[in-house]
Formats: sequence, structure tokens, C-alpha cells
Amino acid sequence: MSIEIKQLHPLFVGEVSGIDLARPLAPNEQAELAAAIDCYAVLVFHDQTLDDETQLVFARNFGKIEPPQAYSGARRLKHAEFADVSNLDADNKPRTPGDRKRMNSLGNRLWHTDASFRRVPGALSMLYAHALPEPGPKGAGDTEFTDLRAAYDALSPAMWEMLEPLIAEHSIFCSRAQIGFTDFTEEERAAMPPVPQRLVRRHPGSGRKTLYLASHASHIVDWPVPDGMLLLRELIEHATQPQFIHAHRWRVGDLVIWDNRCTMHRGRAFDETQRRDLRRITTQDIASTLDQAA
Ligand code: OGA
Ligand code: MN
Repeated sequence: MSIEIKQLHPLFVGEVSGIDLARPLAPNEQAELAAAIDCYAVLVFHDQTLDDETQLVFARNFGKIEPPQAYSGARRLKHAEFADVSNLDADNKPRTPGDRKRMNSLGNRLWHTDASFRRVPGALSMLYAHALPEPGPKGAGDTEFTDLRAAYDALSPAMWEMLEPLIAEHSIFCSRAQIGFTDFTEEERAAMPPVPQRLVRRHPGSGRKTLYLASHASHIVDWPVPDGMLLLRELIEHATQPQFIHAHRWRVGDLVIWDNRCTMHRGRAFDETQRRDLRRITTQDIASTLDQAA
């Protein structure tokens, strides 16, 4: 079987067929997939049969796994490397509306990149679908992606010049505050202090310049806070125009890989009385964006 890739969006997103991700990857397959991620930024694989162990083995082909999330409360998943992106508690029951973990997870409905609030941020996220809700009036729980390289390219040269030296501060508490969720202890806040990240970076895989944006970004370092907030808002509006967006409608057995260094994504609403069981592993970038070539 050989790998085939069909581009799903004019700018990015490859649908990959001809590979079984539950089996160990041959070196040439690893290299082909790595090159495809660099090019397409988002890869979609259908009809995969993964359990947590095989998803973990697959993810380890692509770098060091991000350290486990600080999380209080019983864990549903055995392996600490997983982010539990489901709406389920430790007994596999849908969480209730006022559940703290649920409200925190609602931050994923805002445009973001994973773990930009860590000094060494996230690189590749790999999300696998075990169970999904039926589409309903609230939505189908799609995940939407936007290509920040294309969004960068569409700016003016004068804008490129202005943005080039800027540094944004990122904090998980910034995105949560935007949806009115501020119920964190001093201890939790102290454990995840804000971090600086470049606003423009070079995507190492494609060599292209890219914006690096997320709802975690609160303001621009050395700028008055309102000016920085307005600039970030304007750039996120720019980068999330319809021509830059691809919506992924999930099927059970889908694995989606995205490159957090050059994309943003957001989850969409769904009927939360039904189970939506998605599990994510994210690799760690090699360094803070400040310590990488611009
Ligand atoms: C994530 C995420 C959105 C979704 O897994 O990082 O933001 O659709 N997911 O669940
Ligand atoms: Mn995310």
C-alpha cells in the first residue's frame, strides 16, 4: 500500500489514504508523513483503529510528547500524555453544564493553537475520534482550522514590517477569561505564568513566514494594553475569514494531525447530552519561539 494525499482546501489540509496508523511506521512512511504535515499543515486520516497505546506509539514518531496538563480531579484516561478532549467524566458520563472541567474546556471553542501559553509551546497535535454525537440544532462538534501562513501572506508589506518585531504575551487564563471563566486558584495561576511568543515566526517545515496567534494571547509586550488587544483581535478576525478556514466533520476512526506552529483551530458546539470522545496527544516544539529563528 502506498500513501496517497488529496488536498481538501485550496490552501492546506491533506486527506491521507493508504496507511494503517496502528502498525509501526516504516522509516519512509514517517518521512512521507512528516513532509506532508510540513506542506499541508493539517492531515486527515479516516477509518483508523487506534487504542491509546497505538496512538501513543504513533505520536512518538513525531517528537517529544508535551508534558501532562496540570489537572485536578479524577482522570478518565490512563496515560498522562493524553489530553482528554471528551465531554466525559471519569465514569464515562457526559459532564453537567456547571462542571468545572467542562467550563474550562469550553475555551477550546475560541480560535487557538495548542499550548502557546507554555514557554516551549505545542508543535503537532494528533486527535483521534472514539465516539461522536449525532449532528443536531446546536451543531455537530466539527473542528475548524485556519492556515496562518496564508493569512500572513495576505497582509500588506507595511503590515509585515510592523508585525515582524512584535512579541505577544500568552496565558491560558486569558482565553478562559474571554468566556467569563475565571474560577482558578492562586496556585493554579502561579503554575502557569504568562509567556512571551513571537507574533510572526518562520514555520520550520515549509520555510514560510506565519502569524502565530491564539485567544491565549493577551497583549503586545511594550505596547499599551488596549492597542495590543485591538491588534490581536484585528489579526484573528483577518485570519479567520472564510477563505482561510477548513471545517472538519468528524467520523469515528478519524485521526487528525495539525501543526500548531502555523494554524489555529476551534471546536464547535454539539449536543452535550451525547458522548463526544476525542483524545489528543501533542508534541512539544524544540524551543520558545523567542529562541527560534524568525
Ligand atoms: C484540541 C481542541 C477542539 C475540538 O483538541 O486541542 O481544541 O473540536 N479541540 O474538540
Ligand atoms: Mn486545541
